[in-house]
Amino acid sequence: MALKRKDLLTIRDLPGEEITLILDTAESMKEIASRDIKKVPALRGKTIINLFYETSTRTRTSFEIAGKWLSADVINISTSAASVAKGESLLDTGRTLQAMHPDVVVIRHAAAGAPQILADAMSASIINAGDGAHEHPTQALLDLFTIRERFGRLSGLKAAIVGDIAHSRVARSNLHGMRKVGMEVRLCGPATLLPRHVESLGAAATTKMDEAIRDVDIIMMLRIQQERMGSGLLPSLREYSRLFGLTVERLKRAKEGVLIMHPGPMNRGVEIAPEVADGPYSIILDQVTNGVAVRMALLFLLTGGQPAAARAAAA
Ligand code: CP
Repeated sequence: MALKRKDLLTIRDLPGEEITLILDTAESMKEIASRDIKKVPALRGKTIINLFYETSTRTRTSFEIAGKWLSADVINISTSAASVAKGESLLDTGRTLQAMHPDVVVIRHAAAGAPQILADAMSASIINAGDGAHEHPTQALLDLFTIRERFGRLSGLKAAIVGDIAHSRVARSNLHGMRKVGMEVRLCGPATLLPRHVESLGAAATTKMDEAIRDVDIIMMLRIQQERMGSGLLPSLREYSRLFGLTVERLKRAKEGVLIMHPGPMNRGVEIAPEVADGPYSIILDQVTNGVAVRMALLFLLTGGQPAAARAAAA
């Protein structure tokens, strides 16, 4: 089977078998990172544009590395230096870029739905690299890849996602992705940072951290999204940290061997103690490493790469 889509806009619309296809393809791609010469010709002649309207370290860099290791031409547009700074609309930017015939545009934007606008206007494949508080599908894919790599399976595992759920596109994409592959999800945060109608999302929700982390296989900690949050939702960061921060002491109440994840960027000492972030259960840097392999797989498949050829393409 192949990917049955031009774009990757959400994980909510991605069937479970396509998730598995991307993760399996990423396994073939991962080995390239360990080579002296990290370059295969799979995307030679293809053009990828990174169009980031919001800051990013991990996502933008890993898409650039992924494209370059596959021999694509990768162009990074800094929106502060582009015509958007002169008032150009997103639609006009999309049409302008399309006139230069890119194969893939990777977009991050503060507005939910911005990638859909480009997908409707462009024949290039559009990848959502995070749109407002809506979705961050490639983050969820790399998280699933990292979990599967550690446990050898996904179905039947339990995860707690803790923090600012209401404003988190990572939480939303992971919730959809984890449920599609048969995982159980618990959401935890202050009542003001849980989405309205949280029970309709298909996950248990609690405001009690100890209850959330009991017996789970994975704890995924999230940052407080101060840039998307109105005032008055939290009494203080110190209070938040006391009730919802993952400390060594709190971790003792979790299952032996529980894995700790964080999409980054982390606020050490707020949602996660430095000793936990750097401790033996943390797989936070594995998530970063795997982001390159997963994005390579996605670029390969969206540009017409056949799954059966992935191993040969990486050879
Ligand atoms: N996880 C994530 O999206 O990180 P960046 O904002 O650094 O891309």
